[in-house]
Amino acid sequence: MNYWAVVPAAGVGRRMQAGLPKQYLLLNGRRVIDWTLEVLLAEPRIRGVYVALGAEDPFWESCEHAGHPRVRRVAGGEERAHSVLSALLALETEAAPADRVLVHDAARPCLRPEDLSKLLELASGEAGGLLAMPVRDTMKRADAEGRSETTLDRSRIWHAFTPQLFPLATLRDALEQALAAGVAVTDEASAMEWAGNRPRLVEGHPDNIKITRPGDLELAGFYLQKRNA
Ligand code: C5P
Repeated sequence: MNYWAVVPAAGVGRRMQAGLPKQYLLLNGRRVIDWTLEVLLAEPRIRGVYVALGAEDPFWESCEHAGHPRVRRVAGGEERAHSVLSALLALETEAAPADRVLVHDAARPCLRPEDLSKLLELASGEAGGLLAMPVRDTMKRADAEGRSETTLDRSRIWHAFTPQLFPLATLRDALEQALAAGVAVTDEASAMEWAGNRPRLVEGHPDNIKITRPGDLELAGFYLQKRNA
């Protein structure tokens, strides 16, 4: 089985309220995206990593991994799903339809190598899979006024993380068709579900956070420091 990775990194990260996109913020002295790419590049089964970047991205060239022989740069798109699709179309020029693609957010620098490895082992089937975690808190659905309308059955609710792993051609078709149908595609699994698949939920560690808001950077820094100590 051949594996490739796609890293969407074309977002501007407005919720971070920082001067630059979150994937380029410094985290324990290193850019967020460099921590992310290091974990993917350390996995010998991954043949190449396609990084989707914004138009006129002035930061990428200064990253440690910009010139890495297994890293290729492609143009991202308007939303995350467009960035992923753009990378998949570029990947198709060198990969086979049945090759497996891992899609992993640039903004998730704390992925553990053992979780990545577990995903490759458990989700390489046709329907693919994703790292995820069962929710811990009681989950509510709100009404339009922000009042609690009902309590959900939390035994079946999970947080969806990345990486998400799927066969290249199946994922490309699902994303293209879901986007054309106007479906909200917030992760690859949502497009795969929409196309009738049931991706496998592979339990990962809760420290695989996505840098989203101020404060997340500090938490990610703590996790990485603890791990490297
Ligand atoms: O904004 P959000 O947290 O959902 O972004 C998740 C990942 O998708 C980030 O790594 C971001 O750079 C990427 N992204 C992208 N293209 C966009 C929007 C977000 O590659 N148009």
